[in-house]
Amino acid sequence: MAKSFENRVAVVTGGGSGIGRASALAFAMEGAKVVVADIDVKGGEETVRMIKNAGGEAIFVKTDVSKAQDVEAMVNKAIEVYGRLDYAHNNAGVEPSGHLIADMPEEMWDRVISINLKGMFLCIKYEVAQMLKQGKGAIVNTSSIDGLIAMPCTSDYTSSKHGILGLTKAAALDYAAQGIRVNAICPGTIQTPLIMRLIPDPQVEAAKMPMGRLGTPEEVAQAAVWLCSDAASFVTGTHLSVDGGWAAW
Ligand SMILES: NC(=O)c1ccc[n+]([C@@H]2O[C@H](COP(=O)([O-])OP(=O)(O)OC[C@H]3O[C@@H](n4cnc5c(N)ncnc54)[C@H](O)[C@@H]3O)[C@@H](O)[C@H]2O)c1
Repeated sequence: MAKSFENRVAVVTGGGSGIGRASALAFAMEGAKVVVADIDVKGGEETVRMIKNAGGEAIFVKTDVSKAQDVEAMVNKAIEVYGRLDYAHNNAGVEPSGHLIADMPEEMWDRVISINLKGMFLCIKYEVAQMLKQGKGAIVNTSSIDGLIAMPCTSDYTSSKHGILGLTKAAALDYAAQGIRVNAICPGTIQTPLIMRLIPDPQVEAAKMPMGRLGTPEEVAQAAVWLCSDAASFVTGTHLSVDGGWAAW
């Protein structure tokens, strides 16, 4: 049976770990050639190795999403090697710096905003430029349940994740008539290295969840794949929570 992303090309940022790695693998298993972008060379190359071992095709491009020249080079590499860009999962992000607002060093605010929010803007900017030439494309941005609600000591992260939802809606409207769809996903608490740095005890955290467990990166990846697929052809400018019911509380 033909795979749904055969002859298609996807970029996944933050593809060297967690949700991004699972997403890169999921796009590859649907038949896409995948550009794995990450600031972490070891993690990114490992994801490429995993894709190739599973019979897929991928390259790694070292990318700091907060730097315009890196993001432009990431898209250029996709075109140089694979000739096109159909899908993008803009997913790279860092956790909250963990300060109350009055105590937050300005440079920590700037770091989180520049990776999580400005990085998302830069990715969309350069990805859309190529997708416009092709007349079609689909983009998924990773926000968070912190894009919908707030928690204490997360003003930098929460602002960035709320901003991603606004950016997603604005981008969707900018390009809806040109065949480019832009959506967001809002993961709940997902078992990744990022969350393990933040929560002291995964079992205690799992017990607080409606389903009694944390999510897996693969469960989030499937949502990203669906939003990019033709099955979601009339879906744009919205978000999909992948949180096991957390935000319904
Ligand atoms: N894990 C969760 O529970 C959860 C929940 C909601 C949202 N998210 C979001 O999901 C995304 C992925 O997180 P994860 O949990 O897989 O974390 P992770 O730490 O496992 O992976 C994040 C990846 O992003 C990369 N990265 C960091 N800064 C970068 C930069 N400047 N340029 C390029 N790559 C960079 C890291 O090297 C890493 O490989 C993030 O945007 C995060 O905010 C995660």
